[in-house]
Amino acid sequence: MNKVVLLGPPGAGKGTQATRIAAKYNILHISTGDIFRKNIKEGTPLGTKAKEYMDKGLLVPDELVCDLVEDRVMKEDCANGYLLDGFPRTVFQAEHFDKFLKEHGDELTMVLDIEVAEDILLPRMIGRRVCRNCGKPYHVITMPPAKEGVCDVCGGEVYQRADDTEETVMNRFKVYKDQTSPLIEYYTVSGKLKAVDGAKDPDDVFAGICELLGE
Ligand code: AP5
Ligand code: MG
Ligand code: ZN
Repeated sequence: MNKVVLLGPPGAGKGTQATRIAAKYNILHISTGDIFRKNIKEGTPLGTKAKEYMDKGLLVPDELVCDLVEDRVMKEDCANGYLLDGFPRTVFQAEHFDKFLKEHGDELTMVLDIEVAEDILLPRMIGRRVCRNCGKPYHVITMPPAKEGVCDVCGGEVYQRADDTEETVMNRFKVYKDQTSPLIEYYTVSGKLKAVDGAKDPDDVFAGICELLGE
């Protein structure tokens, strides 16, 4: 059973690769960002709270995240494994989750760090569009959907995320550096970290990931 974490800065391609990994290895893709966006869309109390932080490019407080993910991975559809996209994002979350797994006699299989330099991330983010229904990422120039504004996979509306403006993206990079990048050291120490070059073409990035995860 694969329990994989995808780590990487905003725009590294976590969502893009997650869709492919989940399909190939038949494991569930869990994106905390997508969960919050769904709650915002549905107007739930969690969505209202999360929106305050997300729109500024800040992290949602740890206490709103940990239980949410830990409850989610216990559900039946995760029995074959799961892929965490966007969690953990702070050392607190990583420690909390490791402790949770340990209590269940379990541990992570691997943490995949998608490495991309900041200067190529900004154009990716500004041009990004996402399916409002299934979360599949597109790019206006490099990966447009076949029909403008319509998701290839589910027919949902393809839109621009509220936090993909240049100002908010710059803030998210800073938050990543300050709060999330220490996880690289954290998972190196625990021997779980494997790095992939995320600057390559998405097919090549995926090939690199498959080599690490095994066929
Ligand atoms: P989240 O939704 O997780 O956003 P993020 O981490 O900032 O990452 P992104 O989704 O922006 O990028 P990605 O790596 O998925 O890239 P993608 O594949 O789309 O989180 C949003 C917010 O929610 C956070 O700011 C925070 O407020 C909150 N949150 C979420 N989880 C939290 C947690 N655990 N704790 C606290 N708060 C939390 O690709 C980007 C673009 O590039 C696309 O257009 C794509 O087509 C293109 N692209 C992808 N790969 C390539 C490639 N190889 N070459 C060229 N283009 C590519
Ligand atoms: Mg994403
Ligand atoms: Zn879709």
